[in-house]
Amino acid sequence: MAMQTTAVPRRTAGFRKIVINGAIASALLAAFYAASMLLERQGLELDNESVWYAIRASGAVAYLLLAASTAWGILLSGKLVKRRVPAALALELHTILSWTAIGMIVYHAYLLLFSRFFDYTVVDLLVPFVGPYEPLAVGLGIVGLYLMILTSASFYLIDRIGYRSFRLVHNLTYIAYVLATVHSVLAGSDGLLFNPVYVAVSAGLFLLTLARILARRPHAPRRIYTS
Ligand code: HEM
Repeated sequence: MAMQTTAVPRRTAGFRKIVINGAIASALLAAFYAASMLLERQGLELDNESVWYAIRASGAVAYLLLAASTAWGILLSGKLVKRRVPAALALELHTILSWTAIGMIVYHAYLLLFSRFFDYTVVDLLVPFVGPYEPLAVGLGIVGLYLMILTSASFYLIDRIGYRSFRLVHNLTYIAYVLATVHSVLAGSDGLLFNPVYVAVSAGLFLLTLARILARRPHAPRRIYTS
């Protein structure tokens, strides 16, 4: 009962924190972009190759964060974690991983504005399938990002949409992961290095999901994470 009464204010505070942090991060990214455009007019350009490496590195880190968040989300409701990790801590870790992954993907996409290999505009970054480079592959990444934002934000809407709808929406995480993987394989320029990582991580997540389905008894009581 106590958990129910504290869960709503905690979720509201959590949502407020994410909106404020998101607004500050967006303002900083916009300011940095404006400053770098001014410097570019003075002939001081960012090194194109370094930008390209940063795009690829941030994509790889984002992918691993998304995989870690998905894996922890699957483990969260299993006995192994329930017995060893307090519920609030387990949930906080899941929240931190998923929002950090989203932040890293936004940064990964934002860096495209600085690349002279590609000619991206803000509209190309926001609207799927219209950009100048591999529009299908990059479009899938953009849709994956929107799904990740939807599934992560849906947690804060449980009071309005109900727990059952939240679970349904949250399952879209699997689709987001598949889209992110297809995007990474098709848009990436270093398949030889990264493809084994995608295969290993995807196989691990598949096995975890399978284990969770098999371990779930039809009428077993489940711990519901709401705070
Ligand atoms: C769903 C989340 C996303 C993840 C996990 C992700 C991850 C990755 C990874 C791992 C690569 C391959 C790096 C390489 O092999 O060189 C990549 C490439 C790329 N991504 Fe993403 N990405 C995501 C979303 C996006 C979005 C939203 C955009 C643009 C709006 C984008 C644009 C690109 C581009 C243009 C490349 C090719 C870079 C290059 O190799 O030159 N990605 N991404």
